[in-house]
Amino acid sequence: MQFALLVIALVNERASGLALSSNLPWTPDSLRVKQVEEQVTALRSSVICAFNQLLDLKDLNTGVHSTRLAEWGMRVGQELGLEEAELQNLEVAALLHDIGKMGIPDAILRKPGRLDPDEYALMKKHPEYGWAVLRMLPGFERAALDILHHHENLDGKGYPAGLKGSEIPIVSRIVTVIDAFDAMVSSRPYRVGLPHEEAVRRLIESSGTQFDPAVVRCFISFAQAEMATVFAAAGTSVSSAL
Ligand SMILES: [Fe+2]
Repeated sequence: MQFALLVIALVNERASGLALSSNLPWTPDSLRVKQVEEQVTALRSSVICAFNQLLDLKDLNTGVHSTRLAEWGMRVGQELGLEEAELQNLEVAALLHDIGKMGIPDAILRKPGRLDPDEYALMKKHPEYGWAVLRMLPGFERAALDILHHHENLDGKGYPAGLKGSEIPIVSRIVTVIDAFDAMVSSRPYRVGLPHEEAVRRLIESSGTQFDPAVVRCFISFAQAEMATVFAAAGTSVSSAL
């Protein structure tokens, strides 16, 4: 982590003193800044991969689905006009939104039936756990906040803060829709996933209460058309996931 801090400090120091432009000739200083920027980018990717592997170890990832849904999130973000920095946070939040489940006991995570009130209260802590971990990483502070709010509802009935409407970060609102869709269509040991048409119907039904209507509209505009391809890529068919 000290290396990460050093790299980021170097970038900040150089960036404040040098106006990098592709039109300017490369100097030893600007080349060094470029190298450090590339190292920061590589380090960021490594952190994301490492956390993803942790999720895999805990069997909390859905493999191809997870990656594909992150791509969908990015497409929604681009359609909605998010800036580059927000899109980068969106990618992190889409992939790692449930990282806080690492702190939830397996007996609760894998319970086949309904959770009792105490178990559910503990499960609802996972956004805070995820935020608490990711906010400690330089460059991940904003994504940590987006993860903190990925279970808020548009009508204020979500958690942990009960934020409403535009109080909820747009990245969180996008992840909420993608995550809900993924949960609905995915099969679990104790239940089969919903047909994707039914999942889309439920997204529309809860638009304006649980979900941001603009996000839902944007998502379903291409999700329906690509669903068969996605399930094929995951090694399943649409019907086998029903
Ligand atoms: Fe979650």
